[in-house]
Amino acid sequence: MATTLAFDVYGTLIDTHGVSLALQGMVGTRAAEFSRHWRDKQLEYSFRRGLMQHYASFATCTRDALEYTCESLGLPLDVEQRQLLLDAYRTLPAFDDVKRGLENSRAAGFRMFAFSNGAADAVDTLLETAGIRGFFDDVVSCDEVKSFKPNPGVYAHFLRRAATPGASAWLVSSNPFDVIGAMSAGMRAAWVRRSPQAVFDPWGIAPSVTVAELTTLAAAIGVAD
Ligand code: LAC
Repeated sequence: MATTLAFDVYGTLIDTHGVSLALQGMVGTRAAEFSRHWRDKQLEYSFRRGLMQHYASFATCTRDALEYTCESLGLPLDVEQRQLLLDAYRTLPAFDDVKRGLENSRAAGFRMFAFSNGAADAVDTLLETAGIRGFFDDVVSCDEVKSFKPNPGVYAHFLRRAATPGASAWLVSSNPFDVIGAMSAGMRAAWVRRSPQAVFDPWGIAPSVTVAELTTLAAAIGVAD
């Protein structure tokens, strides 16, 4: 069977800091700081809900994290502004290298799935808006098992849904916690190091391959396989 690729969505295909423009109009020079805090808190909420087995959708984690960020940074946004940001979050842009990278991977003959914490309808909307939905055989969401990455159960769910053994499946992610989670669950993984400042967790588990952008992914995996 052809090798299967599971692409992480937020932060890997889709730029979560794409809300920056809308944010600049609301919080000025603190937009980047705001965006970073919001994203970090969103992930923290997903980790905590997963551990506590107190599931709520990723969209709820995103909304709650927005409330928290406004409060903790002392930047109160009104209801309309918050709604505008949440709407923007549903139609974020893809990173520049994504279309060409997905084309290369398709041409190399990989089976391709989007695999995300986000609910399937939210991910479908994102990928459609970014013009990249057509590259994927299917969208697999952690929402289908009511948990979040890096619970080993969500990677097992992916392998079942994609009908592939872990040894033939690669996670592709810019998120080190996701790379380590997938490898701990028996998959291989490519780390997309989207900035030279990005640091990989020093846990003694190295990514199977590291690429700076998706355009070189197919070649890197081809060589490693
Ligand atoms: C996702 C988060 C981890 O798309 O970014 O699953």
